[in-house]
Amino acid sequence: MPSRNPLLGTLLLGLMTLPALAQRTHVGALVGEPPDTSNWPHPAAPDGNIWHRSSASALDLSRQTAIAQLGKVLFWDEQVSSGNYTSCGTCHAPRAGGTDLRLGAMNSNGNSGSFGVPPQSDTGTIDYGFQINPVSSADVLVTPVAAPTMIGAYMFNQLFWDRRAGPDFDDGSGTNTPVPNFTDWAALEDLAVGPPANEVEMGHEALTWSSGFLQTKLNKAFPLALVDASTIPPDVQWITGMGTTYHKIFDIVFGWHPQFGGGGGVTRERFAMALAHYHRTLIPDQAPIDLGTLTTDQRQGFDLIKTRGSCFSCHSSTRSPELTSQGTLDPFDNLFSDGEEHGIDLIGQPRRKTPTLRNVGLHRKFFSTGHGNNNVFNLQDLIRFYNQQQNGLGFDPPLDPTEEAQVLDFLANGLTDPRVASETFPFDRPQLFGELNPTGANVYGNATPGPSGLFARIIACSPPKVDQPIDWWKVGVGEAPRNSTAVLMLGFSSWFGPTIWVDSVFATFATMTDNQGFATAQQPVPMTSALLGSAIYCQWEIDDYGTPSFSDAARFIPY
Ligand code: HEC
Ligand code: HEC
Repeated sequence: MPSRNPLLGTLLLGLMTLPALAQRTHVGALVGEPPDTSNWPHPAAPDGNIWHRSSASALDLSRQTAIAQLGKVLFWDEQVSSGNYTSCGTCHAPRAGGTDLRLGAMNSNGNSGSFGVPPQSDTGTIDYGFQINPVSSADVLVTPVAAPTMIGAYMFNQLFWDRRAGPDFDDGSGTNTPVPNFTDWAALEDLAVGPPANEVEMGHEALTWSSGFLQTKLNKAFPLALVDASTIPPDVQWITGMGTTYHKIFDIVFGWHPQFGGGGGVTRERFAMALAHYHRTLIPDQAPIDLGTLTTDQRQGFDLIKTRGSCFSCHSSTRSPELTSQGTLDPFDNLFSDGEEHGIDLIGQPRRKTPTLRNVGLHRKFFSTGHGNNNVFNLQDLIRFYNQQQNGLGFDPPLDPTEEAQVLDFLANGLTDPRVASETFPFDRPQLFGELNPTGANVYGNATPGPSGLFARIIACSPPKVDQPIDWWKVGVGEAPRNSTAVLMLGFSSWFGPTIWVDSVFATFATMTDNQGFATAQQPVPMTSALLGSAIYCQWEIDDYGTPSFSDAARFIPY
């Protein structure tokens, strides 16, 4: 066997614990504020916040634009997640109306959620491993509910299906103490810091902002380093083109700020402000209903919803949206939601915040349940569902097929902003690493079981970052014999199998699997830039009670 490659160092061990994360809850009234399109950011920005447009100078505005652009970069950066594999936009795609494009993510609670990160846990230190997942195995985790859209979310002062985010932005101390200047309309700030620390969506078990872990990681990361560079939106290229890390960029963008200025690089507050500012630029106001270009059928559909449907008692902030003589919407009713929670008789479901109807024609999944609840798989099913309601929730009298088609036409097309559908500015975005490399696409070969008959699986989707040091390359093994020695073998080309799938094999890392048969390798030693772009192959060898067994293998390209 060839000798160990000096470029790759010893890998460290990570083992697992499973603390639970508490969820914060807010209660409070929610009223959609009227949009004022002459103002930027939108008035739904926190009152009293210095970015409230009305008091902003031209210089402040240019600074606000820079903050929003930084937010756009962060929203699409997969490095925000522990696995380098999930950005906010992974679950919130404009061309699906701001919801998840991907189907098939079934949660054990019966809902179709969003695919998140591979199960991984904190061990009390920064080093962490793949968690013993009580649900299935080494598969990526799934959120308990479907993702609502972030487009138009700036209108709500409480967010999430249960409205637990907002209206203020708390300081993260666990006492719900608001950050000064963020005591109203700061739901977006409050929300934005959630997903990166959530162990299903983007983080790992017990990840907290107060640990400084994410800040340290991002401070060393180059913005959008993983996406297809040719697809980076023009308005943020000044950020990625600087050739520097988030640390410096955060200081450039926020350094002037009287409350959160100076040095310090990535902080929780700055991260929240950047994401929230970006969201406040996502204003979907060029649909036919805004431009006065509803067709006769779509207009008919709107009128049917208004006259025969109960819909606007929840899907409107005024309860009775008016079209102007030009056929456009009155600007006080922009989002088609009252922002309140209601029950609509979905089987087994709690009350939920009324979602916006804007861009619903682009959704692939419907309701917080995602897919198939009450047999709703598409918008036509959804209209039938409401049309069959006898409890004041639907249409009275019920729609006939022609009328159903008109309501469908209105919902499917009349509320769709073409810039959202085509992902053009401000809804443009880069092509993600994870979209070009679906989970498991880098896995090949077959496992060879030992006496225990287990087919060990390599858990491998995080691309290694060439850095000083590398903290972020994790390779796991699951479904292996429990409490057995696992050795990670590496090479610079693949082999043909049937047992060994890695050529030039050298063993770099030995650890014990836990009592569920999981282990993680984490590469702490710097790789050099000579490794950039050249593939690394790896596979686990596991001691199955004295006999070697082997996992399948995976291929990585360092970035
Ligand atoms: C793994 C998928 C996933 C990722 C990653 C993700 N989200 Fe979400 N998002 C969801 C789900 C699921 C919900 C609903 C959660 C709930 O209501 O309990 C949600 C809710 C939201 C909402 C609330 C919309 C409303 O009207 O209530 C916003 C805004 C949002 N996400 C923005 C973000 C941002 C910003 C990030 C990155 C920091 C992010 N999301 C990362 C899945 C995801
Ligand atoms: C009592 C309040 C209420 C009424 C009346 C109502 N809805 Fe809803 N609607 C909701 C709530 C709440 C949800 C989210 C439920 C969930 O996902 O669990 C919802 C979901 C939807 C969705 C799915 C949106 C998405 O993002 O998945 C559409 C479309 C919709 N409603 C259209 C209508 C139409 C059309 C009518 C009239 C026939 C109507 N609604 C009547 C409260 C209401």
